[in-house]
Amino acid sequence: MNADTTAGSGERTESGAASATLTVENLSVHYGGVCAVNSIGFTVEPGRSVGIIGANGAGKTSTLKALMGLVPRSAGRIVFGGTDLTRVKPRDIVRHGIGYVPEGRHVFPGLTVEKNLMLGAYARPWRSTETKGSLAEVYELFPVLGEMRSRLAGALSGGQQQMLAVGRALMARPRLILLDEPSMGLSPKLVEDILAVLVRLREEGLSLLLVEQNAKLTFEATSDCVVMENGEVAMTGTSRELRDDVQVRRIYLGL
Ligand SMILES: Nc1ncnc2c1ncn2[C@@H]1O[C@H](COP(=O)(O)OP(=O)(O)O)[C@@H](O)[C@H]1O
Ligand SMILES: [Mg+2]
Repeated sequence: MNADTTAGSGERTESGAASATLTVENLSVHYGGVCAVNSIGFTVEPGRSVGIIGANGAGKTSTLKALMGLVPRSAGRIVFGGTDLTRVKPRDIVRHGIGYVPEGRHVFPGLTVEKNLMLGAYARPWRSTETKGSLAEVYELFPVLGEMRSRLAGALSGGQQQMLAVGRALMARPRLILLDEPSMGLSPKLVEDILAVLVRLREEGLSLLLVEQNAKLTFEATSDCVVMENGEVAMTGTSRELRDDVQVRRIYLGL
């Protein structure tokens, strides 16, 4: 296994805001005395899609929350597009161009689809014309959300709510989008739909960091992967290499 496949570009020189490489170095997260993430590192190059797979409790969600500033980082450094985000607040992280689709979707069931989407633009000090432009883009990407724009989010199916959560993150026009288990609780058919959404986002030029227990989906949706075990990076490689790895096939693909 080539441990440098995703992490090896950490020395790449940044060319300022135009470049949007995410570099994570020695990141750790503790909850009280419990270490959930132990000094992990990886890189997401612009326009690349990187997966993090791992069992329940491996530290995947804590990693994404730490990137968004939603849990304290006990150590480490996070740089995005040449800017050090290690001590930046969540709202400002969104302003720097990182979108977040949390585990469990967390749409507001009592608000309409369109209101939910509008909330995604909150972090940007935009005039309404720009918000309207973002809305039109999201409806173009997910026509079903346009059709259901006046319905309450709580009336949507699980798959539609997942699309809404992705659409809400897109409203702030991120350059990198973090997705936490978008396939969770969805039927195999809807997992296929989510895969199509992820492929579409890649085609739009977005960088993706996809956290999943569903290794099969992750290998199909990403170019590079990190395997997390007990808060640590156990393996890195291209998604193809990992998909063909005997140990990965046994533990994560059940083959
Ligand atoms: N808020 C919290 N307080 C205490 N421990 C937590 C908290 N959130 C997660 N943990 C623990 O941190 C570890 C990693 O959890 P998590 O990041 O949710 O993993 P994953 O997303 O891979 O399932 C687990 O042992 C979990 O029990
Ligand atoms: Mg999780």
